[in-house]
Amino acid sequence: MAEGRPSDVGLEATQAIRRARGVVILTGAGVSADSGVPTFRDPVEGLWKHYRPEDLATPGAFQRDPCLVWSWYDMRRQAVLDCHPNPGHYAIARFLLHRNDAVLVTQNVDGLHARALEEVSTQEKARGSSGAQDRMLHLHGDILTLRCSRCSYRERNRDRVDTSSEATLPSCRTCGALLRPAVVWFGEMLDQGVLNAAFEAAARAQVCLVAGTSAVVHPAASIPQATAQGGGSIVEVNPEETPLSRLAQWQIREGAGVALPRILSGVDEYS
Ligand code: APR
Repeated sequence: MAEGRPSDVGLEATQAIRRARGVVILTGAGVSADSGVPTFRDPVEGLWKHYRPEDLATPGAFQRDPCLVWSWYDMRRQAVLDCHPNPGHYAIARFLLHRNDAVLVTQNVDGLHARALEEVSTQEKARGSSGAQDRMLHLHGDILTLRCSRCSYRERNRDRVDTSSEATLPSCRTCGALLRPAVVWFGEMLDQGVLNAAFEAAARAQVCLVAGTSAVVHPAASIPQATAQGGGSIVEVNPEETPLSRLAQWQIREGAGVALPRILSGVDEYS
């Protein structure tokens, strides 16, 4: 386990990623912190500091008071749309685009990884997207996608929501039921297909790069262990220690927006 000057540790991690056959990147809210999106558990700014999850991000809360839940998500959706991807998002997007053995598994619902990939794909259209979007797995959903609370209808939607009454909330054009954010709420199951794909990729990977997560929410926090159990290595990018740190061969105590561009630069080819 190496912990030391970020530049030395980062160089070793970069070499491991360059040599690896199969890389999984697991991200959390910390990767978006550099874009101004508050994390969940930051003692000062964390989102949950001002709200109790049970009051907002659960099916029961939506059933009891859909206007309250929608007002919180409308605020978060607008906050996210006012933010922009940061150099960490772009570094991951380029890596996904250039390395078809790379898979991104994100816990984030802010859509910033997808926006960064759209922008980078456009800039580098000559290189094609090589299915990069298919190798971007959203474990906890996407706040800018709505889904019906009753049927399978879904839509990408960035509009403001009028939360003044239930009658003004978005409703399904197929069955008329209320639409809700397409995110996984507390007490709900994750999409099993997405979860299986994430664990299968992690088990095959020779390196799992974990950035910006407190590694306290499962099953996401168990994904890097699948790489370790398969004999692979873990790189952690986080200014703070986490329960995963003890498994990480390389611990880079820096912000993702600074460390990821350095670690992922120039690793688009096998060495
Ligand atoms: N770069 C990298 N890491 C950072 C940065 C940064 N600039 N700033 C903060 N961090 C780290 C913090 O040290 C912390 O370990 O990011 C982590 C953020 O942890 P959380 O706020 O717990 O967010 P996350 O790990 O994504 O939460 C997981 O919990 O509430 C649920 O569904 C929600 O997806 C979320 C899940």
